[in-house]
Amino acid sequence: MDSTNRQMTNQSSHEITVLGLETSCDETAAAVVSGVPGRPGTIRANLVLSQFDEHAPYGGVVPEIAARAHIDHLDSLIASALREAGLGLNDVDAIAATAGPGLVGGLMVGLVTGKALAFAAQKPFVAVNHLEAHALTARLVSGTQFPYLVLLVSGGHCQLLEARGVGDYTLLGTTLDDAVGEAFDKTAKLLGLGYPGGPHVEKWARKGNAKRFDLPRPMKGRPGADFSFAGLKTALRQTVTKLVPLTETDLADAAASFQLAVADAIEDRTRNAMRMMRERAGTEGPIPFVVAGGVAANTALRERLETLAQAEGFDLTAPPMALCTDNAAMIAWAGIERVAIGSIDTLDASPRPRWPLAAGGDETHNSGLTGK
Ligand code: KG4
Ligand code: ZN
Repeated sequence: MDSTNRQMTNQSSHEITVLGLETSCDETAAAVVSGVPGRPGTIRANLVLSQFDEHAPYGGVVPEIAARAHIDHLDSLIASALREAGLGLNDVDAIAATAGPGLVGGLMVGLVTGKALAFAAQKPFVAVNHLEAHALTARLVSGTQFPYLVLLVSGGHCQLLEARGVGDYTLLGTTLDDAVGEAFDKTAKLLGLGYPGGPHVEKWARKGNAKRFDLPRPMKGRPGADFSFAGLKTALRQTVTKLVPLTETDLADAAASFQLAVADAIEDRTRNAMRMMRERAGTEGPIPFVVAGGVAANTALRERLETLAQAEGFDLTAPPMALCTDNAAMIAWAGIERVAIGSIDTLDASPRPRWPLAAGGDETHNSGLTGK
């Protein structure tokens, strides 16, 4: 936990309401959530403004454009979220904003706004780790109990973690190179399918023949639970380059073959992590398994993970798609979890562009167009 944390002595069991702000990448979001940790929460407002159109011409997130867009929209989004929730600022118990990891410009916009509101309304402020918010979303949705296994698959991350409690995570596996969402985005760019890549690749893959191109399944069969996607990306580029100009069938088959290779690789790595987790938990019984992050919106991947979970005796929870991709309801919920254990921050909390959730975790996140 951050050294700036102030520990409050009272443990909360009453309902807590938090205003959450998310500005770490290319979504400007504000939400109001109420709840008690351990039970599903209530989302009273959850507004997300995506900047897809602003970044699309560049095929990736441009940090400068993202920060300016957050400045333009965050205030009115907060006002709308409070209005939709039927609450004033004085009615919330705390304000939570993403402090990292992410693009520093965007983080500063959300943090400064959150801290100013907290100061003006004399409310506690919580500086939230975006990855922890993804990992805790299953508790907002289903009240999932610790300990559980988390597969965090987003544009900046690809990790398998054991979640034992709020602020208490152990890394079981991470990517050695690209994040899986990044691999989807780069594939879409290579195939000219649009941005952000994941949903486009998935749509094209539905029409394609996944067996046409024999792509590598990086790390498959190796011990441990680490991932790698760089080799897959290179193999796809070489395959596609030979075919130019690409027909619609080529595009669909390439998207399908890529998606199948990713699903195979993730299934293999997750199976190993499940066995590691079972040994650590020392139980034969069912263990919760949470899939989080934007790539968890992928239906084909979810189906594979569902089958795997059943075979390994894990209970899969995948939040609804709108709560898998970046949103502020998850930030508000992380705020609720932190307030409930008395872990709040002072108003000098600063942005943390790199902020691993567990020792050894990949630190960068949404490094932006220049970093991809
Ligand atoms: O969690 P998220 O919204 O932002 C980050 O924290 O990174 O994840 C965004 C990532 C992008 O790389 C996007 O292409 C990917 O999630 N994504 C998908 C799908 N929907 C979003 N990847 C595969 N299939 C999808 N349906
Ligand atoms: Zn995210």
